[in-house]
Amino acid sequence: MLLLSLLACHTIEKIGDSAAPTANVCGGEIFVARAGYDTTDPVPADPDAPVFGAAPAPYHTHLSWSDEPSTTMAMVWRTDADTLATRVEYGADTTYGATATGASWLLGVEGAAGRVHEAHLCDLTPGTTYHYRVGGAGNWSEDATFTTAPTPGQAAPFRFAVTGDSRDNQDTWGLVLDAMEAHAPDFYLFSGDAVDLGVNMTEWDAWFEAGKGHIDRRPLMFAHGNHEFQVQNYYALFSQPGNEQWFSFDYADAHFVVLNDTVATAGDRELQAAWMENDLGATAAKWRFALHHMPAYSSCTTHGSNAELQDLWSPVEEAGGVVLDFTGHNHNYERSYPLRDGAQTTAELGTTYVVAAGAGADLYGNDLSNAFTEVAEITQNFVIVDVADGTLTLTAYDLGGNVIDTFTTTR
Ligand SMILES: [Fe+2]
Repeated sequence: MLLLSLLACHTIEKIGDSAAPTANVCGGEIFVARAGYDTTDPVPADPDAPVFGAAPAPYHTHLSWSDEPSTTMAMVWRTDADTLATRVEYGADTTYGATATGASWLLGVEGAAGRVHEAHLCDLTPGTTYHYRVGGAGNWSEDATFTTAPTPGQAAPFRFAVTGDSRDNQDTWGLVLDAMEAHAPDFYLFSGDAVDLGVNMTEWDAWFEAGKGHIDRRPLMFAHGNHEFQVQNYYALFSQPGNEQWFSFDYADAHFVVLNDTVATAGDRELQAAWMENDLGATAAKWRFALHHMPAYSSCTTHGSNAELQDLWSPVEEAGGVVLDFTGHNHNYERSYPLRDGAQTTAELGTTYVVAAGAGADLYGNDLSNAFTEVAEITQNFVIVDVADGTLTLTAYDLGGNVIDTFTTTR
């Protein structure tokens, strides 16, 4: 009932069919996925119209991928409701030279939260740094840069950062971003629960404000958490592949599966298990990672393990070669032993389950009586993963910059 009331009070102009995780294909129609798989036709504003409202300055710009990471980039930003121009200029330097247009829609009831703009840059060169600015003539954002992913399958070294669960402490989220920045990750994974209540735009505004200077320069891929509540804000504010709940993407010789364990439709957890089995069976990537919100294996005293996910998803991940499964939800840091069917195995043969829920939410306790837990720390935290020359190195940090865990494996 709560979920239905939350969905009912937030409407947008432009929505799309998300019945299947088909690609939000670069150069194709931009749509906003929606819980419940609404198929209402989109009503796009004209992105070429040089129409600006009273507050047209773009803000809360952030980057992600809704298509191939080596050749595309998606960007989302906000303005006042009356600004229709949705343009990006981009290129090798600040003379730009290339332009793209996107689509926009009102956020909140009758645009109470302004307008969201989304554009996709296509046909980019892999492994290349671009300058860009968003908005429209006379109302551009400040110049920023991003770098495309290496060619898929290429054994290039890369680094990514993982955290989640900022919830109602966006100041800490800002500190975590600053700490992650010191490691210059190529991109971020966020395991859900960015805000305490997904319908509350004030919380989202604080989350994106803290991200300024970070998520407008490094792409962030997001797993829907239970505190996103399947509200339209989540779908409207992010650009990710397909239904924006379960999807995959490649980066160099790695394959990332993103799942949603807080589903709006009965059977979607089972559906995701079948989808993931096909998806992992179709990739040749050496390194495979999973990202979702609720841990299958956890020693946290508040939520603990999730028996349904252990039955539904863990066997698929373990058989599919997933080396690390990242989650949040349980507000601490945990790493399991490498597991196969719940039993300890080697890092090469099993999946290691990592909880990195350290971006601000109040901390929970640990019950260390579980045999599957190798490391657990009650502290705000984030994880840096390096892959180079056939070796993966995970390093977990607290906000004081202290190393709280390391883990290495080879493939
Ligand atoms: Fe959660």
